[in-house]
Amino acid sequence: KTPVAILLSGRGSNATALIRACEDPAFPARICVVISNNPDAPGLEMARKAGLSVKAIDHRPYKKDRAAHEQALDACLKEAGAEAVCLAGYMRLLTPYLTQAWAGKMLNIHPSLLPSFPGLHTHERAIDAGVRLHGCTVHLVTEGMDEGPILGQAAVPVLSGDTPDQLGARVLEQEHKLYPTVLRHFLDKTPASCQAQAALLVG
Ligand code: GAR
Repeated sequence: KTPVAILLSGRGSNATALIRACEDPAFPARICVVISNNPDAPGLEMARKAGLSVKAIDHRPYKKDRAAHEQALDACLKEAGAEAVCLAGYMRLLTPYLTQAWAGKMLNIHPSLLPSFPGLHTHERAIDAGVRLHGCTVHLVTEGMDEGPILGQAAVPVLSGDTPDQLGARVLEQEHKLYPTVLRHFLDKTPASCQAQAALLVG
């Protein structure tokens, strides 16, 4: 099994999905460390309870020195023997220091069908834009925010009257399936199968 690290900042539901997937002996990854920039992240507590090695590397003491914070992250990733990194709700922008150090080995999940709606508040923006399909994307991390090569996507319908929370819950359910699937294909070096669902005729 390939040692994979998870970086998170909050709830950790995608981290939970990855951790569960790794419990399958046939899954090609094991989680070697879970790191958070937020010492109070519920996801960190969840990982600790799952018996995993966890580490809080608070960004606040580093003030505006992002590179120094990332050097600490990088040292922790190396110490844990990570060979790949999954960002799972890691809500800090990375500098080229870390993206270059982990180029081709760092994955992110984003709650939209990229390249639509990079950044924040994706569900609200999808509703406002009137799109009929929305979803989530797993991509390789590069310097540009939410810009790297797409590894897999899952689509859901936007239903009339959807609130951002309702739409977000529908997307999140797919995130939890997509991320382990894409990670498996990524590590097995097979192309991820198309995750798009039969939602094309909605609306
Ligand atoms: C997820 O919806 C993830 O796609 C999103 O944050 C949420 C984290 O939830 N990530 C981003 O917006 C990154 N740009 P989780 O902590 O329950 O996995």
